[in-house]
Amino acid sequence: MNPFRFQNPTALYYGKGQIEQFLASEVTQYGRRVLLVYGGGSIKRSGLYDKVNHILNEAGVTIFELSGVEPNPRLTTVHKGIDICRTENIDLILAVGGGSVLDCSKAIAMGVKYDGDVWDIYQRRAKATGALPLGTILTLAATGSEMNSGGVITNWETKEKLGGGSPYTFPKFSFCDPENTYSVPRDQTIYGTCDMLAHCFEHYFHPTRHTPLQQHLIEAVIKTIVENAKAAIDNPNDYDARETLMYCSTMALNGMINMGIQGDWACHAIEHEISAIYDIPHGGGLAIVFPHWMDYNKNVNPSRFASLATNVFGVDASGKSTDELADIAIAKVREFYKEIGAPQRLADYDIGDDQLDRMASQAVRFGEIGNFKKLNKDDVYAILKASL
Ligand code: NZQ
Ligand code: ZN
Repeated sequence: MNPFRFQNPTALYYGKGQIEQFLASEVTQYGRRVLLVYGGGSIKRSGLYDKVNHILNEAGVTIFELSGVEPNPRLTTVHKGIDICRTENIDLILAVGGGSVLDCSKAIAMGVKYDGDVWDIYQRRAKATGALPLGTILTLAATGSEMNSGGVITNWETKEKLGGGSPYTFPKFSFCDPENTYSVPRDQTIYGTCDMLAHCFEHYFHPTRHTPLQQHLIEAVIKTIVENAKAAIDNPNDYDARETLMYCSTMALNGMINMGIQGDWACHAIEHEISAIYDIPHGGGLAIVFPHWMDYNKNVNPSRFASLATNVFGVDASGKSTDELADIAIAKVREFYKEIGAPQRLADYDIGDDQLDRMASQAVRFGEIGNFKKLNKDDVYAILKASL
Protein backbone atom coordinates (compact mmCIF):
# COMPACT_ATOMS: atom_id res chain seq x y z
CA MET A 1 0.00 0.00 0.00
CA ASN A 2 1.01 3.60 -0.41
CA PRO A 3 1.01 5.86 2.62
CA PHE A 4 -2.21 7.85 2.81
CA ARG A 5 -4.32 10.27 4.77
CA PHE A 6 -8.06 9.71 4.54
CA GLN A 7 -10.79 12.13 5.51
CA ASN A 8 -14.34 12.32 4.24
CA PRO A 9 -16.42 14.93 6.01
CA THR A 10 -19.75 14.45 4.19
CA ALA A 11 -22.74 13.59 6.39
CA LEU A 12 -24.58 10.92 4.45
CA TYR A 13 -28.33 10.32 4.84
CA TYR A 14 -29.44 7.13 3.13
CA GLY A 15 -32.89 5.74 2.60
CA LYS A 16 -36.55 6.69 2.84
CA GLY A 17 -37.85 9.50 5.02
CA GLN A 18 -34.51 11.15 5.72
CA ILE A 19 -35.24 14.28 3.70
CA GLU A 20 -38.49 14.91 5.55
CA GLN A 21 -36.78 14.40 8.87
CA PHE A 22 -33.40 16.06 8.53
CA LEU A 23 -33.20 18.40 5.51
CA ALA A 24 -34.44 21.52 7.30
CA SER A 25 -32.04 21.20 10.21
CA GLU A 26 -29.07 20.42 7.96
CA VAL A 27 -29.78 23.41 5.72
CA THR A 28 -30.53 25.99 8.38
CA GLN A 29 -27.35 25.43 10.31
CA TYR A 30 -25.58 27.22 7.43
CA GLY A 31 -28.07 30.09 7.10
CA ARG A 32 -31.42 30.91 5.52
CA ARG A 33 -30.47 32.12 2.04
CA VAL A 34 -30.19 29.10 -0.20
CA LEU A 35 -29.40 28.69 -3.89
CA LEU A 36 -31.35 25.70 -5.19
CA VAL A 37 -29.54 24.27 -8.21
CA TYR A 38 -31.21 21.74 -10.51
CA GLY A 39 -31.25 20.46 -14.07
CA GLY A 40 -33.71 20.37 -16.92
CA GLY A 41 -36.86 19.66 -14.92
CA SER A 42 -36.83 16.01 -13.84
CA ILE A 43 -37.19 17.09 -10.21
CA LYS A 44 -40.34 19.02 -11.08
CA ARG A 45 -41.87 16.01 -12.81
CA SER A 46 -41.01 13.67 -9.94
CA GLY A 47 -42.42 15.95 -7.24
CA LEU A 48 -39.09 16.36 -5.47
CA TYR A 49 -38.96 20.07 -6.29
CA ASP A 50 -42.27 20.67 -4.52
CA LYS A 51 -41.24 18.56 -1.56
CA VAL A 52 -37.95 20.43 -1.08
CA ASN A 53 -39.59 23.82 -1.49
CA HIS A 54 -42.25 22.94 1.04
CA ILE A 55 -39.73 21.78 3.64
CA LEU A 56 -37.51 24.82 3.18
CA ASN A 57 -40.40 27.29 3.18
CA GLU A 58 -41.66 25.83 6.43
CA ALA A 59 -38.17 26.33 7.87
CA GLY A 60 -38.15 30.01 6.91
CA VAL A 61 -35.56 29.63 4.17
CA THR A 62 -35.42 32.11 1.29
CA ILE A 63 -34.84 30.18 -1.92
CA PHE A 64 -33.06 31.45 -5.01
CA GLU A 65 -32.86 29.23 -8.07
CA LEU A 66 -30.44 28.21 -10.77
CA SER A 67 -32.17 25.80 -13.14
CA GLY A 68 -31.27 24.24 -16.45
CA VAL A 69 -27.91 22.74 -15.50
CA GLU A 70 -26.93 20.67 -18.54
CA PRO A 71 -25.74 17.05 -18.52
CA ASN A 72 -21.99 17.63 -18.94
CA PRO A 73 -22.45 20.97 -17.13
CA ARG A 74 -21.18 24.09 -18.82
CA LEU A 75 -18.81 26.71 -17.47
CA THR A 76 -21.28 29.42 -18.55
CA THR A 77 -23.88 27.96 -16.16
CA VAL A 78 -21.31 27.90 -13.37
CA HIS A 79 -20.64 31.61 -13.98
CA LYS A 80 -24.38 32.35 -13.71
CA GLY A 81 -24.52 30.57 -10.36
CA ILE A 82 -21.49 32.44 -9.02
CA ASP A 83 -23.15 35.75 -9.92
CA ILE A 84 -26.35 34.81 -8.07
CA CYS A 85 -24.42 33.73 -4.97
CA ARG A 86 -22.50 36.99 -4.86
CA THR A 87 -25.46 39.26 -5.57
CA GLU A 88 -27.84 37.50 -3.20
CA ASN A 89 -25.40 36.72 -0.40
CA ILE A 90 -26.14 33.02 -0.52
CA ASP A 91 -25.33 31.00 2.62
CA LEU A 92 -25.65 27.48 1.19
CA ILE A 93 -25.95 25.87 -2.22
CA LEU A 94 -28.42 22.99 -2.37
CA ALA A 95 -27.86 20.78 -5.43
CA VAL A 96 -30.82 18.56 -6.33
CA GLY A 97 -30.17 16.23 -9.23
CA GLY A 98 -27.59 13.95 -10.82
CA GLY A 99 -23.83 14.28 -11.02
CA SER A 100 -24.01 17.21 -13.41
CA VAL A 101 -26.05 19.32 -11.02
CA LEU A 102 -23.78 18.38 -8.13
CA ASP A 103 -20.60 19.09 -10.09
CA CYS A 104 -21.92 22.44 -11.32
CA SER A 105 -22.74 23.34 -7.73
CA LYS A 106 -19.24 22.41 -6.54
CA ALA A 107 -17.76 24.69 -9.19
CA ILE A 108 -20.07 27.53 -8.16
CA ALA A 109 -19.17 26.97 -4.50
CA MET A 110 -15.43 27.23 -5.28
CA GLY A 111 -15.88 30.06 -7.77
CA VAL A 112 -17.63 32.32 -5.27
CA LYS A 113 -14.57 32.25 -3.02
CA TYR A 114 -11.99 32.49 -5.78
CA ASP A 115 -10.71 35.83 -6.92
CA GLY A 116 -10.49 35.04 -10.63
CA ASP A 117 -12.17 32.75 -13.14
CA VAL A 118 -12.98 29.40 -11.55
CA TRP A 119 -11.88 27.75 -14.80
CA ASP A 120 -8.27 28.46 -13.67
CA ILE A 121 -8.75 25.78 -11.02
CA TYR A 122 -9.88 23.20 -13.58
CA GLN A 123 -6.98 24.15 -15.81
CA ARG A 124 -4.64 23.54 -12.88
CA ARG A 125 -3.42 27.11 -12.97
CA ALA A 126 -4.70 27.86 -9.48
CA LYS A 127 -5.91 26.15 -6.34
CA ALA A 128 -9.25 26.72 -4.69
CA THR A 129 -9.15 29.19 -1.84
CA GLY A 130 -12.40 28.13 -0.18
CA ALA A 131 -15.97 27.25 -1.03
CA LEU A 132 -19.51 28.09 0.02
CA PRO A 133 -21.15 25.26 1.96
CA LEU A 134 -22.85 22.78 -0.35
CA GLY A 135 -25.55 20.20 0.36
CA THR A 136 -26.96 17.68 -2.10
CA ILE A 137 -30.03 15.59 -2.79
CA LEU A 138 -29.02 12.91 -5.27
CA THR A 139 -31.45 11.69 -7.95
CA LEU A 140 -29.23 9.47 -10.10
CA ALA A 141 -26.84 6.73 -9.01
CA ALA A 142 -23.64 7.08 -11.01
CA THR A 143 -20.86 9.50 -10.22
CA GLY A 144 -20.32 9.34 -6.48
CA SER A 145 -20.24 13.14 -6.51
CA GLU A 146 -22.51 13.11 -3.45
CA MET A 147 -19.62 11.97 -1.27
CA ASN A 148 -16.47 13.19 -2.96
CA SER A 149 -14.84 16.53 -3.57
CA GLY A 150 -14.43 16.28 -7.35
CA GLY A 151 -16.44 17.59 -10.24
CA VAL A 152 -16.23 17.83 -14.00
CA ILE A 153 -17.01 20.97 -16.00
CA THR A 154 -17.19 21.54 -19.74
CA ASN A 155 -15.99 24.69 -21.43
CA TRP A 156 -18.08 24.42 -24.57
CA GLU A 157 -16.31 27.29 -26.32
CA THR A 158 -12.91 25.61 -26.16
CA LYS A 159 -14.35 22.05 -26.23
CA GLU A 160 -12.58 21.12 -23.02
CA LYS A 161 -14.00 18.95 -20.25
CA LEU A 162 -11.87 19.00 -17.12
CA GLY A 163 -12.08 17.53 -13.65
CA GLY A 164 -11.26 19.57 -10.58
CA GLY A 165 -11.98 19.87 -6.93
CA SER A 166 -10.56 20.78 -3.58
CA PRO A 167 -10.76 19.78 0.06
CA TYR A 168 -13.45 22.49 0.36
CA THR A 169 -15.90 20.90 -2.07
CA PHE A 170 -16.98 17.81 -0.21
CA PRO A 171 -20.73 18.23 0.29
CA LYS A 172 -21.50 19.10 3.91
CA PHE A 173 -24.43 16.66 3.67
CA SER A 174 -26.01 14.45 1.04
CA PHE A 175 -29.43 12.81 0.95
CA CYS A 176 -29.66 9.58 -1.04
CA ASP A 177 -33.17 8.19 -1.19
CA PRO A 178 -33.42 5.34 -3.72
CA GLU A 179 -37.02 6.32 -4.43
CA ASN A 180 -35.72 9.53 -5.98
CA THR A 181 -34.07 7.37 -8.65
CA TYR A 182 -37.28 5.53 -9.68
CA SER A 183 -37.88 8.07 -12.44
CA VAL A 184 -34.37 7.77 -13.93
CA PRO A 185 -34.94 6.66 -17.55
CA ARG A 186 -33.65 3.33 -18.79
CA ASP A 187 -30.73 4.79 -20.76
CA GLN A 188 -29.53 6.93 -17.85
CA THR A 189 -29.74 3.91 -15.52
CA ILE A 190 -27.51 2.05 -17.96
CA TYR A 191 -25.03 4.93 -18.18
CA GLY A 192 -24.99 5.28 -14.41
CA THR A 193 -24.22 1.59 -14.06
CA CYS A 194 -21.36 1.89 -16.55
CA ASP A 195 -19.96 4.88 -14.70
CA MET A 196 -19.94 3.30 -11.24
CA LEU A 197 -18.45 0.15 -12.72
CA ALA A 198 -15.77 2.21 -14.45
CA HIS A 199 -14.85 3.85 -11.14
CA CYS A 200 -14.26 0.38 -9.71
CA PHE A 201 -12.15 -0.59 -12.73
CA GLU A 202 -10.09 2.60 -12.43
CA HIS A 203 -9.22 1.56 -8.85
CA TYR A 204 -8.78 -2.12 -9.66
CA PHE A 205 -6.15 -1.63 -12.35
CA HIS A 206 -3.41 0.01 -10.33
CA PRO A 207 0.36 -0.46 -9.96
CA THR A 208 0.51 -0.49 -6.16
CA ARG A 209 2.03 -3.53 -4.45
CA HIS A 210 0.27 -5.67 -1.83
CA THR A 211 -3.32 -4.46 -1.56
CA PRO A 212 -5.33 -7.59 -0.72
CA LEU A 213 -8.20 -5.95 1.13
CA GLN A 214 -8.61 -3.18 -1.42
CA GLN A 215 -8.73 -5.81 -4.16
CA HIS A 216 -11.53 -7.71 -2.45
CA LEU A 217 -13.48 -4.58 -1.54
CA ILE A 218 -13.40 -3.41 -5.14
CA GLU A 219 -14.34 -6.88 -6.39
CA ALA A 220 -17.30 -6.90 -4.01
CA VAL A 221 -18.60 -3.63 -5.41
CA ILE A 222 -18.12 -4.76 -9.02
CA LYS A 223 -19.87 -8.06 -8.33
CA THR A 224 -22.78 -6.30 -6.63
CA ILE A 225 -23.20 -3.90 -9.55
CA VAL A 226 -23.14 -6.79 -12.03
CA GLU A 227 -25.70 -8.73 -9.99
CA ASN A 228 -28.17 -5.86 -9.53
CA ALA A 229 -27.99 -3.63 -12.59
CA LYS A 230 -30.37 -5.60 -14.78
CA ALA A 231 -33.12 -5.58 -12.15
CA ALA A 232 -32.98 -1.79 -11.81
CA ILE A 233 -32.87 -1.33 -15.58
CA ASP A 234 -35.83 -3.64 -16.21
CA ASN A 235 -37.90 -2.64 -13.18
CA PRO A 236 -37.29 1.03 -12.40
CA ASN A 237 -39.35 0.85 -9.21
CA ASP A 238 -37.49 -2.13 -7.75
CA TYR A 239 -36.55 -0.54 -4.44
CA ASP A 240 -33.96 -3.13 -3.50
CA ALA A 241 -32.12 -2.91 -6.81
CA ARG A 242 -32.20 0.90 -6.84
CA GLU A 243 -30.98 0.98 -3.24
CA THR A 244 -28.13 -1.39 -3.95
CA LEU A 245 -27.02 0.48 -7.06
CA MET A 246 -27.15 3.78 -5.23
CA TYR A 247 -25.00 2.45 -2.42
CA CYS A 248 -22.57 0.91 -4.94
CA SER A 249 -22.20 4.22 -6.77
CA THR A 250 -21.42 6.08 -3.56
CA MET A 251 -18.95 3.44 -2.38
CA ALA A 252 -17.25 3.29 -5.77
CA LEU A 253 -16.01 6.85 -5.54
CA ASN A 254 -16.03 8.10 -1.95
CA GLY A 255 -12.50 6.95 -1.22
CA MET A 256 -13.44 4.02 1.03
CA ILE A 257 -12.44 1.09 -1.18
CA ASN A 258 -9.29 2.55 -2.68
CA MET A 259 -7.25 3.82 0.24
CA GLY A 260 -3.52 3.47 -0.31
CA ILE A 261 -3.71 2.59 -3.98
CA GLN A 262 -3.03 4.68 -7.03
CA GLY A 263 -5.84 4.12 -9.50
CA ASP A 264 -5.42 4.30 -13.25
CA TRP A 265 -7.94 6.91 -14.53
CA ALA A 266 -6.79 6.89 -18.17
CA CYS A 267 -10.22 5.80 -19.43
CA HIS A 268 -11.86 8.72 -17.65
CA ALA A 269 -9.41 11.13 -19.21
CA ILE A 270 -10.07 9.64 -22.64
CA GLU A 271 -13.85 9.65 -22.19
CA HIS A 272 -13.84 13.28 -21.11
CA GLU A 273 -12.27 14.19 -24.45
CA ILE A 274 -15.03 12.36 -26.31
CA SER A 275 -17.76 14.09 -24.27
CA ALA A 276 -16.02 17.46 -24.63
CA ILE A 277 -16.38 17.34 -28.39
CA TYR A 278 -19.47 15.17 -28.95
CA ASP A 279 -21.42 15.84 -25.73
CA ILE A 280 -22.18 12.13 -25.20
CA PRO A 281 -23.19 10.69 -21.80
CA HIS A 282 -20.14 9.97 -19.68
CA GLY A 283 -21.17 6.40 -18.80
CA GLY A 284 -21.85 5.56 -22.45
CA GLY A 285 -18.37 6.71 -23.46
CA LEU A 286 -16.77 4.68 -20.69
CA ALA A 287 -18.60 1.50 -21.73
CA ILE A 288 -17.11 1.92 -25.20
CA VAL A 289 -13.55 2.78 -24.19
CA PHE A 290 -12.94 0.45 -21.24
CA PRO A 291 -12.91 -2.94 -23.03
CA HIS A 292 -10.47 -1.53 -25.60
CA TRP A 293 -8.26 -0.12 -22.86
CA MET A 294 -8.34 -3.61 -21.31
CA ASP A 295 -7.32 -5.28 -24.57
CA TYR A 296 -4.51 -2.77 -24.97
CA ASN A 297 -3.16 -3.21 -21.43
CA LYS A 298 -3.86 -6.80 -20.46
CA ASN A 299 -0.21 -7.79 -20.75
CA VAL A 300 0.85 -5.22 -18.16
CA ASN A 301 -0.41 -7.49 -15.38
CA PRO A 302 -2.52 -10.39 -16.69
CA SER A 303 -3.05 -11.78 -13.21
CA ARG A 304 -5.13 -8.74 -12.25
CA PHE A 305 -7.44 -9.51 -15.16
CA ALA A 306 -7.45 -13.17 -14.19
CA SER A 307 -8.60 -12.24 -10.67
CA LEU A 308 -11.47 -10.32 -12.22
CA ALA A 309 -12.49 -13.48 -14.09
CA THR A 310 -12.36 -15.79 -11.09
CA ASN A 311 -13.35 -13.54 -8.16
CA VAL A 312 -16.03 -11.45 -9.86
CA PHE A 313 -17.37 -13.51 -12.73
CA GLY A 314 -16.93 -16.89 -11.03
CA VAL A 315 -14.86 -18.42 -13.82
CA ASP A 316 -13.35 -21.82 -12.95
CA ALA A 317 -9.57 -21.35 -13.28
CA SER A 318 -8.66 -25.02 -13.51
CA GLY A 319 -6.82 -25.92 -16.67
CA LYS A 320 -6.61 -22.29 -17.82
CA SER A 321 -3.51 -20.13 -18.09
CA THR A 322 -3.42 -16.62 -16.64
CA ASP A 323 -3.48 -15.19 -20.15
CA GLU A 324 -6.55 -17.24 -21.03
CA LEU A 325 -8.30 -16.07 -17.88
CA ALA A 326 -7.42 -12.47 -18.70
CA ASP A 327 -9.08 -12.84 -22.10
CA ILE A 328 -12.13 -14.42 -20.49
CA ALA A 329 -12.39 -11.50 -18.03
CA ILE A 330 -12.46 -8.97 -20.85
CA ALA A 331 -15.02 -11.05 -22.73
CA LYS A 332 -17.18 -11.16 -19.57
CA VAL A 333 -16.98 -7.39 -19.20
CA ARG A 334 -18.09 -6.98 -22.84
CA GLU A 335 -20.87 -9.50 -22.30
CA PHE A 336 -22.15 -7.55 -19.31
CA TYR A 337 -22.20 -4.26 -21.20
CA LYS A 338 -24.06 -5.97 -24.01
CA GLU A 339 -26.55 -7.60 -21.70
CA ILE A 340 -27.55 -4.30 -20.09
CA GLY A 341 -27.74 -2.53 -23.45
CA ALA A 342 -24.73 -0.22 -23.13
CA PRO A 343 -23.23 1.28 -26.28
CA GLN A 344 -20.41 -0.77 -27.82
CA ARG A 345 -18.70 1.48 -30.33
CA LEU A 346 -18.16 5.18 -31.02
CA ALA A 347 -20.17 4.59 -34.17
CA ASP A 348 -23.20 4.06 -31.90
CA TYR A 349 -22.99 7.83 -31.32
CA ASP A 350 -22.19 8.52 -35.01
CA ILE A 351 -18.62 9.36 -34.09
CA GLY A 352 -16.09 8.82 -36.87
CA ASP A 353 -12.33 9.18 -37.03
CA ASP A 354 -12.07 12.87 -37.92
CA GLN A 355 -11.36 14.13 -34.35
CA LEU A 356 -9.26 11.21 -33.07
CA ASP A 357 -6.01 13.12 -33.29
CA ARG A 358 -7.43 16.11 -31.43
CA MET A 359 -8.93 13.93 -28.71
CA ALA A 360 -5.67 12.02 -28.26
CA SER A 361 -3.63 15.25 -28.02
CA GLN A 362 -6.00 16.84 -25.56
CA ALA A 363 -6.13 13.75 -23.36
CA VAL A 364 -2.41 14.09 -22.66
CA ARG A 365 -2.40 17.89 -22.37
CA PHE A 366 -1.03 17.70 -18.81
CA GLY A 367 1.34 14.77 -19.61
CA GLU A 368 0.98 11.01 -19.92
CA ILE A 369 -2.19 9.53 -18.45
CA GLY A 370 -2.87 6.35 -16.47
CA ASN A 371 -0.99 4.67 -13.66
CA PHE A 372 -1.49 0.96 -14.32
CA LYS A 373 0.26 1.83 -17.57
CA LYS A 374 1.38 5.30 -18.61
CA LEU A 375 -0.21 6.18 -21.93
CA ASN A 376 1.12 8.72 -24.40
CA LYS A 377 -0.71 10.31 -27.29
CA ASP A 378 -0.07 7.35 -29.62
CA ASP A 379 -1.47 4.91 -27.07
CA VAL A 380 -4.60 6.98 -26.61
CA TYR A 381 -5.00 7.27 -30.36
CA ALA A 382 -4.75 3.48 -30.71
CA ILE A 383 -7.42 2.91 -28.03
CA LEU A 384 -9.74 5.46 -29.62
CA LYS A 385 -9.21 3.94 -33.05
CA ALA A 386 -10.07 0.48 -31.74
CA SER A 387 -13.24 1.99 -30.23
CA LEU A 388 -14.58 3.37 -33.53
O1 NZQ B 1 -31.46 17.62 -15.91
P1 NZQ B 1 -32.55 16.75 -15.40
O2 NZQ B 1 -33.89 17.17 -15.88
O3 NZQ B 1 -32.51 16.58 -13.92
O4 NZQ B 1 -32.36 15.29 -16.08
C1 NZQ B 1 -31.19 14.50 -15.91
C2 NZQ B 1 -30.29 14.47 -17.12
O5 NZQ B 1 -31.01 14.67 -18.29
C3 NZQ B 1 -31.63 13.08 -15.80
N1 NZQ B 1 -32.01 12.70 -14.44
C4 NZQ B 1 -31.28 12.77 -13.31
N2 NZQ B 1 -31.97 12.28 -12.28
C5 NZQ B 1 -33.19 11.92 -12.76
C6 NZQ B 1 -33.22 12.19 -14.13
N3 NZQ B 1 -34.29 11.96 -14.91
C7 NZQ B 1 -35.38 11.43 -14.30
N4 NZQ B 1 -35.41 11.13 -12.99
C8 NZQ B 1 -34.35 11.35 -12.19
N5 NZQ B 1 -34.40 11.02 -10.90
O6 NZQ B 1 -30.51 12.31 -16.21
C9 NZQ B 1 -29.78 13.05 -17.16
C10 NZQ B 1 -28.30 12.91 -16.86
O7 NZQ B 1 -27.99 13.54 -15.63
P2 NZQ B 1 -26.48 13.80 -15.20
O8 NZQ B 1 -26.49 14.51 -13.91
O9 NZQ B 1 -25.74 14.42 -16.34
O10 NZQ B 1 -25.93 12.31 -15.03
P3 NZQ B 1 -24.76 11.74 -14.13
O11 NZQ B 1 -25.17 11.65 -12.72
O12 NZQ B 1 -24.35 10.51 -14.80
O13 NZQ B 1 -23.60 12.84 -14.21
C11 NZQ B 1 -22.74 12.90 -15.30
C12 NZQ B 1 -21.71 13.99 -15.10
O14 NZQ B 1 -20.89 13.73 -13.96
C13 NZQ B 1 -19.49 13.73 -14.34
C14 NZQ B 1 -19.57 13.28 -15.78
O15 NZQ B 1 -18.39 13.55 -16.48
C15 NZQ B 1 -20.75 14.05 -16.28
O16 NZQ B 1 -20.40 15.38 -16.58
N6 NZQ B 1 -18.71 12.91 -13.40
C16 NZQ B 1 -18.55 13.36 -12.15
C17 NZQ B 1 -17.78 12.70 -11.21
C18 NZQ B 1 -17.61 13.20 -9.84
N7 NZQ B 1 -18.10 14.37 -9.51
O17 NZQ B 1 -17.01 12.55 -9.01
C19 NZQ B 1 -17.06 11.48 -11.54
C20 NZQ B 1 -17.53 10.84 -12.79
O18 NZQ B 1 -16.48 10.03 -13.27
C21 NZQ B 1 -17.98 11.75 -13.87
O19 NZQ B 1 -16.90 12.20 -14.67
ZN1 ZN C 1 -17.01 8.39 -14.13
